[in-house]
Amino acid sequence: MMRLLSFALLAQGIFAQGPPAPPTRPGECATEYLYQPKPYGFFVNNTIYTPIGNESFTYPRHVELQDGTILATGWHRGGRSPGALPIFESKDGGASWKWISQVNDQVNGWGLSAHPALTELTEPLGGFPAGTILASGNSASNNGTRIDLYASTDKARTWKFVSRIAQGGRPNTTNGADPIWEPYLLVYNHSLVAYYSDQRDPKHGQKLAHQVSTDLRTWGPVVNDVAYDLYTARPGMTVVAYIPPIDQWILVYERPIGNSSSYGVNYPVYYVMAKSPVDFRLSEGLPIVINNKTAPNASPYVVWSSVGGPNGTIVVSDADNNVVYTNRAGGDVSKWELHDTPAGATYSRSIHILSKHPDSLLLFGGETFDNMGLGLLTPFTATVVSLTDILENW
Ligand SMILES: *[C@@H]1O[C@H](CO)[C@@H](O)[C@H](O)[C@H]1NC(C)=O
Ligand SMILES: *[C@@H]1O[C@H](CO)[C@@H](O)[C@H](O)[C@H]1NC(C)=O
Ligand SMILES: *[C@@H]1O[C@H](CO)[C@@H](O)[C@H](O)[C@H]1NC(C)=O
Ligand SMILES: *[C@@H]1O[C@H](CO)[C@@H](O)[C@H](O)[C@H]1NC(C)=O
Ligand SMILES: *[C@@H]1O[C@H](CO)[C@@H](O)[C@H](O)[C@H]1NC(C)=O
Ligand SMILES: *[C@@H]1O[C@H](CO)[C@@H](O)[C@H](O)[C@H]1NC(C)=O
Ligand SMILES: *[C@@H]1O[C@H](CO)[C@@H](O)[C@H](O)[C@H]1NC(C)=O
Ligand SMILES: *[C@@H]1O[C@H](CO)[C@@H](O)[C@H](O)[C@H]1NC(C)=O
Repeated sequence: MMRLLSFALLAQGIFAQGPPAPPTRPGECATEYLYQPKPYGFFVNNTIYTPIGNESFTYPRHVELQDGTILATGWHRGGRSPGALPIFESKDGGASWKWISQVNDQVNGWGLSAHPALTELTEPLGGFPAGTILASGNSASNNGTRIDLYASTDKARTWKFVSRIAQGGRPNTTNGADPIWEPYLLVYNHSLVAYYSDQRDPKHGQKLAHQVSTDLRTWGPVVNDVAYDLYTARPGMTVVAYIPPIDQWILVYERPIGNSSSYGVNYPVYYVMAKSPVDFRLSEGLPIVINNKTAPNASPYVVWSSVGGPNGTIVVSDADNNVVYTNRAGGDVSKWELHDTPAGATYSRSIHILSKHPDSLLLFGGETFDNMGLGLLTPFTATVVSLTDILENW
């Protein structure tokens, strides 16, 4: 019941700047009314790609280029063999999409399909001009896991292998095995920072670490970001954002500990804040808990918007819920809020604030973790909602 009411409210919000919302009939989702993508408008579940056969599309990732173009990719499970990262392009705020290329494994013969990451060089680096697009992912086989870096100097039409950032053992999430996972790329301080989850350190079942390169070819030492004394803690899945009003960086991660549950979830979402995105190890991780009761679960993503007050709004997404978790108090641990959205739950759901439209919250949709490989053919989608409406009405 709450949900139906909520959708009706959202419909009003969405069409505040467009046609009036048709009445929502009880017992029916309002999708048909909301699904009406207009350039830089608000819309729900706009299909980017529909899986076929055995495919599942999950773990979306994206980058907004300096000219406003959005590139999106994801883990296209059961797609091409060997696996590759499909690249989709939108030049109108997510309203229309074109499949323009794919990033193929050019060096391992293992494919490149898991754990994608995208970013754009905002300045020249290592002989690559500003505007170069960088892609990474986990090239995995029974022989190992490799986080490789690829570059495109023609707006994501073609891709070239640049360097291997790091490698680990074969995929195996048991503590004691030594693979690496889940890269995240950030251009910072005239260098590229590559974050990832790391099981190679015998002191930690898994930890979060990064390496820095100033030429995109050679990589500095492994520096910890989040590592717990408790061996069985497995912090995972780094995503980083900058919060301008307080000049701080935030890193969100999941923090499972064996089989134990916290506020009813097994992969509670934590965050750590720091003055520098290469110094997270100096700060303490804090859990996101709302009203001392509800906690997000697994594979978080974080963005910041200038909307919502003097500190703007930190927006966090998780793996298992439609909702977003927001903080308008500069990350104060007691000030997290929960707000529903019309987008579906998605494993490692990436979200985005359009750079020239800070009220536009883009949520990518795809398959959930539990439903991967079940043939549900859940489409890869883009939803754009008004962050103001989400904060006020939900
Ligand atoms: C789906 O996957 C199964 C098992 O991996 C395989 O046997 C089957 O051929 C696949 N079907 C299609 C249509 O790809
Ligand atoms: C794994 O390594 C073995 C031994 O070097 C090799 O024979 C095999 O082809 C490799 N498999 C893959 C998928 O790379
Ligand atoms: C996974 O890693 C654990 C711990 O090292 C090891 O005991 C197990 O044999 C590994 N499993 C596979 C399938 O390699
Ligand atoms: C930027 O990197 C240089 C080394 O390349 C380092 O000396 C400096 O402290 C870094 N600055 C920041 C703000 O991280
Ligand atoms: C959780 O793990 C602990 C330690 O390994 C074990 O003692 C306990 O029985 C496990 N609980 C469940 C519900 O599996
Ligand atoms: C949260 O709940 C715990 C256990 O019920 C209680 O000890 C704690 O004081 C509560 N914290 C807040 C901020 O309400
Ligand atoms: C903004 O964030 C700062 C730093 O966390 C905090 O001290 C301040 O109270 C926040 N302002 C508001 C309005 O929440
Ligand atoms: C959008 O799609 C998701 C499936 O990914 C579904 O759970 C959700 O209900 C849809 N939203 C609406 C408003 O139909």
